[in-house]
Amino acid sequence: MAFSNKPHCILMFMISFFILSLFVSALDVSDAVAEAPAPGSGSDGFLPLAKKHVVIHNVVKNKQTVDVHCKSSEDDLGLIHLPWNQTWGFRFRVNIWETTKFVCNFTWYGGGSHNFDIFNVWRDDSEFGKFPVCSECLWQVRSSDGNEAMCRITGDSDPYCFPWDK
Ligand SMILES: *[C@@H]1O[C@H](CO)[C@@H](O)[C@H](O)[C@H]1NC(C)=O
Ligand SMILES: *[C@@H]1O[C@H](CO)[C@@H](O)[C@H](O)[C@H]1NC(C)=O
Repeated sequence: MAFSNKPHCILMFMISFFILSLFVSALDVSDAVAEAPAPGSGSDGFLPLAKKHVVIHNVVKNKQTVDVHCKSSEDDLGLIHLPWNQTWGFRFRVNIWETTKFVCNFTWYGGGSHNFDIFNVWRDDSEFGKFPVCSECLWQVRSSDGNEAMCRITGDSDPYCFPWDK
């Protein structure tokens, strides 16, 4: 690319940036303990590129700190030590193919080690799906076993609870 052609370069740069920002899911990982959002707030769900805020609240029965390690195919959010009754969260956008998925590993003393899809489009972002779409997706880590290991909290219904993923 010729350096004499400056406006052209700038335009190319802007276009590349725009395209890049479409394809890379923007991620904002706060390592500080986040405030729990008001459940059910926000409404820009289920469209591609919808903004999501996943928040994890440690309410395990034995009150231990839970080690949380979340990943998508593109991002590794690192190992988080989440003290009991604290929350931690991260933000991202669903990609244009709507294939975004984050899997977390939860490990705690006396609780074992478990994996869970903390976000998948089928469960959390399908307009006609079985579960409501969330943009503030608030999860409680509750139990080491059973069908109420992980519960998604909503403002206006009972929590949606799930066992650990195998
Ligand atoms: C858990 O945290 C909330 C919010 O910070 C607080 O209001 C509540 O008292 C705590 N619960 C216990 C049992 O410490
Ligand atoms: C979760 O992570 C821990 C530590 O890296 C690992 O030992 C464990 O096997 C993982 N658990 C699962 C269910 O993959």
